[in-house]
Amino acid sequence: MTLRSAQWYAGDHRNAYIHRAWMRRGGPADAFDRPQIAIANTASDLTPCNAHLTEVAQSVKNGIYEAGGIPLELPVVSLGETQVRPTAMLWRNMAAMATEEVLRANPVDGVVLLGGCDKTIPSLLMAAASVDLPAVVVPGGPMLTGTFRGVPLGCGTDVWRLSEEVRAGSLSNEQFIRSESAMIRSRGHCNTMGTASTMALVAEALGTVVPGVAGTPAPDSRLLEAAHRTGGLAVELVTADRRPGTFLTKASFHNAIVTLAAIGGSTNAVVHLLAIAGRLGVDLTLDDFDRIGSGVPVLVDLQPAGRFLMDDFHRAGGLLAVLREVRDLLDPDARTVTGRPLVDYLDDAPIWDPEVIRTRTSPLLDHGGIAVLRGNLAPRGALIKPAAASPHLLKHRGRAVVFDSVEDFHARVDDPDLDVDADSVLVLRGCGPKGYPGMPEVANMPLPKKLLERGVRDMVRVCDGRMSGTAYGTVVLHVAPEAAAGGPLALVRTGDVINLDVEARRIDVEVPDEEWAARTPNDATTAGYANPRRGWERLYVDHVLQADTGADLDFLLGSSGSQVSRDSH
Ligand code: FES
Ligand code: MG
Repeated sequence: MTLRSAQWYAGDHRNAYIHRAWMRRGGPADAFDRPQIAIANTASDLTPCNAHLTEVAQSVKNGIYEAGGIPLELPVVSLGETQVRPTAMLWRNMAAMATEEVLRANPVDGVVLLGGCDKTIPSLLMAAASVDLPAVVVPGGPMLTGTFRGVPLGCGTDVWRLSEEVRAGSLSNEQFIRSESAMIRSRGHCNTMGTASTMALVAEALGTVVPGVAGTPAPDSRLLEAAHRTGGLAVELVTADRRPGTFLTKASFHNAIVTLAAIGGSTNAVVHLLAIAGRLGVDLTLDDFDRIGSGVPVLVDLQPAGRFLMDDFHRAGGLLAVLREVRDLLDPDARTVTGRPLVDYLDDAPIWDPEVIRTRTSPLLDHGGIAVLRGNLAPRGALIKPAAASPHLLKHRGRAVVFDSVEDFHARVDDPDLDVDADSVLVLRGCGPKGYPGMPEVANMPLPKKLLERGVRDMVRVCDGRMSGTAYGTVVLHVAPEAAAGGPLALVRTGDVINLDVEARRIDVEVPDEEWAARTPNDATTAGYANPRRGWERLYVDHVLQADTGADLDFLLGSSGSQVSRDSH
């Protein structure tokens, strides 16, 4: 076969001379005849969850070299979920676009994708799908469990829980701050079933990770062994011409959705999977998540839906042990990056700790997944994760208390005079992809202090933003269209009655049709929408699609392949 990189390196003309001359680094004599494998590395000191990927990259390099390829480390845009303002999601599409373009522009034949923190694996997979070069993911893995006063700390989830305790007066602020040094025990991404853990496992279920690798803790030596093996596989992928477009099908997404439900995974996976599917031209819809996922039992007892953490999950058997329990629900035809079907890997995958990974006969919950709601508040859909919600609130009517922006919310939520009670429905708008911009994780609004003090721990909340995968509560989120895109959420007023009925899959406001049709958004509402003047934010606001299709940019849908029509000049 002729390698793609031969378009740069082969021949005795001036340009080939230039390409080769600058890349002579003491490699073997036939270096330019070998598969050139990029290692797209999201390691960064500002993405602490991924900082160790440089060590992982070294193992990948060794594996590539051993298999006869040439490893080429390629730092790509890295997004640290906890550091980046105003929200890492604003930059997911930028990272995907930059990675896609830089892979296409360079003489590479295949790529190993190193990610971990929430947006990194999604952006890498979006890029790989659009450039359609042979690609395989090594997830960086979760951190080890930290403990505080003898109790394990779930990274993310326990920050929410402890800070609510402070607000409720049951924990001192001093103790809260002392827990900070115990929260992040080691290298690696969040150890709850938040977005990072979810996306690593979902990437494996899609078939883009060597089966059995996702969920290996970041400091575990088995991660480096897996990285070494994956480097070798990347060279084979080039020879086999196994590109994402050749094996990622609707069946792969079916398996990803079953997995998302069985692990009780993050709602963020919905926007990420829709965006990846959009790059591949796979016809995946919001309703597929409800149709495929809602009947799947939750088998994994991890925070935020349950008790344990990722280190326990790995010890208990990991993803393959979960998938063996739901084997009958998986699509047997979906192949993985190894060329073999996912279901081929499930025969020898026992559960070692049935407290952490439940058997099919004693699930954590009978029904998992993500419910897709529609109604006059969300004509194109909204999500709720029933497993993270309070059962008594899944059918609820209450008066809306409306906030026009995150700032408006923070200014008023703890006001003792705020007219709110436990039955109220908190509504926060202006937090969609366009409105904020970037669709921040604010839908799990903190409850009013006066209600927390009275022992209220959950309320119905409705928002056009997202929520952290580590969060919990009866939260209706990803409302589409968002307020800033002309969605009816912009028309709700404080005092309107909102009716949530998860079983009927409805979210409606009870305003007479005639009055509803005559309403227009208030100035205070529209004043909160973003209107960036220049730069990425301008491009983003002008082109971002709504949450129901994955919040990608309209001009990034689909694939351009890896071909570049012109030589370098
Ligand atoms: Fe990076 Fe949670 S902040 S994975
Ligand atoms: Mg987050």
